[in-house]
Amino acid sequence: MLTLENVSAGYGTFQALFGVSLEVRAGEAVAVIGPNGAGKTSLLRVISKVIPLNGGHIAMEGQSLDSVPAHRVIELGIAHVPEHRRLFPRLTVEENLRMGAFINGARSRFDERLAFVYELFPRMKERRHQLAGTMSGGEQQMCAIGRGLMSGPKLLLLDEPSAGLAPVIVQQVFDLVRRIRQEGYTVLIVEQNIQQVLKVVDRAYLLEVGRIKMSGASQELLENDEVRRAYIGL
Ligand SMILES: Nc1ncnc2c1ncn2[C@@H]1O[C@H](COP(=O)(O)OP(=O)(O)O)[C@@H](O)[C@H]1O
Ligand SMILES: [Mg+2]
Repeated sequence: MLTLENVSAGYGTFQALFGVSLEVRAGEAVAVIGPNGAGKTSLLRVISKVIPLNGGHIAMEGQSLDSVPAHRVIELGIAHVPEHRRLFPRLTVEENLRMGAFINGARSRFDERLAFVYELFPRMKERRHQLAGTMSGGEQQMCAIGRGLMSGPKLLLLDEPSAGLAPVIVQQVFDLVRRIRQEGYTVLIVEQNIQQVLKVVDRAYLLEVGRIKMSGASQELLENDEVRRAYIGL
């Protein structure tokens, strides 16, 4: 579904990604794991074209994204749930969800998609008139993911959905990821919470200082001595 070939990107003269290649197949959940500063957020940003592609190629379902501007990426079926959730704290849950449906195709299907998000996340329906900024971290993450689903994407990019949440809530967030998969969405998730994320994805890539260092089935990485020593602390 999504392929990255030798992708380089950065900020001005600072290079954050060096020749990254990866693939996400339809129906898969794939994680990019790595420590703080590895380039995980930058990787999702270059896929969404929030930052420019400085080298290499990105394609979605065989269509090149190389010269597609950020506002059109969503029309090709890619929704990006950004780092730190980025909700509008003084808007209600429902207003935030509406923000995810601004593209043309989505506007006409707003009611249908909203009903779907509320069915998937009944908590959001209960809270639909609450200001997003007054909800708990876990609920805000649920709202951010719901907003991503409002554009009717095929592929969901999730940037550290568990960051900053209490351990019991982290568990709930990963359960959400499981449910989204069961709904048939393809998921690319970046996480520092390596042990937890490897339990909900099929495959993973290890990113270190902007380069893919290792990749494989989740179980393989969970059992890998280097990964365990460096990242799981076992
Ligand atoms: N807006 C920015 N301007 C300049 N450098 C940035 C910016 N955002 C991130 N970086 C740098 O890019 C590198 C990768 O950052 P990031 O992609 O946020 O990593 P991660 O998400 O894995 O923590 C880091 O060295 C970071 O300091
Ligand atoms: Mg990040």
